Amino acid sequence: CRVQQWDSEEPVPRAELLAGVAGKRGLLCLLSDRIDGEVLEAAGPSLKVISTMSVGFDHLALEEIKKRGIRVGYTPDVLTDATAELSVALLLAACRRLPEAVEQVKNGGWTTWKPLWMCGYGLSDSTVGIIGLGRIGQAVARRLKPFGVKKFLYTGSRPKPESAAEFEAEFVPLTRLAEESDFVVVTCALTPATQGMCNKDFFCRMKKTSVFVNTSRGAVVNQDDLYDALAHGQIAAAGLDVTTPEPLPADHALLSLKNCVILPHVGSATYATRSTMAVLAADNLLAGLRGEPMPHELLL
Ligand code: NDP
Ligand code: DGY
Repeated sequence: CRVQQWDSEEPVPRAELLAGVAGKRGLLCLLSDRIDGEVLEAAGPSLKVISTMSVGFDHLALEEIKKRGIRVGYTPDVLTDATAELSVALLLAACRRLPEAVEQVKNGGWTTWKPLWMCGYGLSDSTVGIIGLGRIGQAVARRLKPFGVKKFLYTGSRPKPESAAEFEAEFVPLTRLAEESDFVVVTCALTPATQGMCNKDFFCRMKKTSVFVNTSRGAVVNQDDLYDALAHGQIAAAGLDVTTPEPLPADHALLSLKNCVILPHVGSATYATRSTMAVLAADNLLAGLRGEPMPHELLL
């Protein structure tokens, strides 16, 4: 293959992408590259395959892509463990107030051992609600179960008895999941149906002692409503690995809250996982260019 590469960790500027993709047969992209009608138009009819180094595909205009008969490769499975691990780390950081506690040690706030100081909420005997019991949602439940979780609830577009059996998880409507969960973990895909799904109504239904974690996509959450819920004690804490926009501006209101732990979209960020994702994305692209079955093709 002859390869034209944007050789930087920074996202390719839109103008460079539009100029560079013209006449190409394949495109390897990241989740930060919006592949829409304009890009497809700029590529022209030569473009046969798009390979994204991500499992999420909300940055791809799938209808347009399908109309043009372009094949799509993506990277499921290989990042499931890393992302589930990070989701658990984020949940624990939020419910046990780890960043706040570390800060207290550094700034002299740690004066002595006090009975109620820096208390949070634990997983023992809790109810955990998973929004989207897919690959990552199941891997999160598998990791949380040994912490002594009493009950798993889940929601999605339909019940998944085979996936839920391992956790004896109960399929419930979103409203019931909000009302009964001590911990809510969002691991669904971003779709028109899930966009803004965690909103004022959702947070108002949650318990004042509950903790909300999102490792899916920022747009699943209405961030203004989340801010209000956290600032007014409607929920206890939140952990977010994904936000709108990304990066979140350093002066964003959510960053002023002690009960909100925010990470810079690092769910899959282990060296091994990112390396495997990169190789899989390249293999998907090559298979697509050869007209062969891809290791992981997104069926449109
Ligand atoms: P899967 O396709 O296995 O799971 C997605 C889940 O979303 C499915 O179980 C699906 O349920 C569910 N879902 C779809 N519609 C709804 C709905 N209306 N309400 C609730 N759930 C719904 O994908 P993965 O588990 O591999 O990845 C999930 C997402 O995680 C990715 O799309 C990506 O956005 C994000 N991600 C984030 C990472 C990070 O770094 N923070 C890393 C990796 C992924 P059903 O089958 O019932 O429709
Ligand atoms: C994905 O793959 O969709 C993640 O957000 C990054 O690994």
